[in-house]
Amino acid sequence: MLAKKDEIILPPFGGAAPEKDSVQTCRSVDGLTEIQSSSTELVIWKRWLPPQFRDWLDHIPIEVLPDLRLLIKPVELQIALEPLLNQCGMQAGDMRDLLIADLANLIQVFAGITASARVDLRLERVNDDACWKFHRDSVDARLITTYRGPTTEWVKPSHGERAIREQKEFSGPLERLGAHDVAIFKGSRASSGNGIVHRSPPIAGTGCTRLLLCVNQPSAASPNPWVAGSRNDSHASIKRGW
Ligand SMILES: [Fe+2]
Repeated sequence: MLAKKDEIILPPFGGAAPEKDSVQTCRSVDGLTEIQSSSTELVIWKRWLPPQFRDWLDHIPIEVLPDLRLLIKPVELQIALEPLLNQCGMQAGDMRDLLIADLANLIQVFAGITASARVDLRLERVNDDACWKFHRDSVDARLITTYRGPTTEWVKPSHGERAIREQKEFSGPLERLGAHDVAIFKGSRASSGNGIVHRSPPIAGTGCTRLLLCVNQPSAASPNPWVAGSRNDSHASIKRGW
């Protein structure tokens, strides 16, 4: 359900056709605001997570990896997420706290950039080829990072149409986010351009399981807003039985 009307302000996208490189990289989280430029279609924060945290992410038992969705205000994340992670069987500790803090930081940044009171957060355990087709997201903008496993693949704008046309026959050039990079992609609803063509890496049959964060503005597809004190499972979609 869409958040209340007065909670969402239209994002500051739009404007003229691209003049500079529409794909930008940055070395700090602050650089993600570059996506607000009408000439930017994709901004990538090149980052490195602490080795101990990376190692912990890579060794979480697969059956414990979260798979959930929340429509939430950034300040609510910790209190909402802790019981859900308990429910998943993820043990509390410093590394789990680091994950929650990282998620909270990223959704705060995305909410600020898109001027959204709430965000639609999906923390997904992926072990199939869902979203393997080259596509543009039907959104203004979407934040993506992969905490574990192969990362999102994307195509420079000059090759985007061909990738969509050729799909499995597309021979490149194909770009990949770096491990743990944080990217904000503009989608087909952004008025500044066409959005960046991308896909999830095909992993079926490889034995890989990804842990993917996807953050969107609220939409008709979002769950009901998280409410403190209510039953957790009324606000989160936790998939099981993969
Ligand atoms: Fe996508």
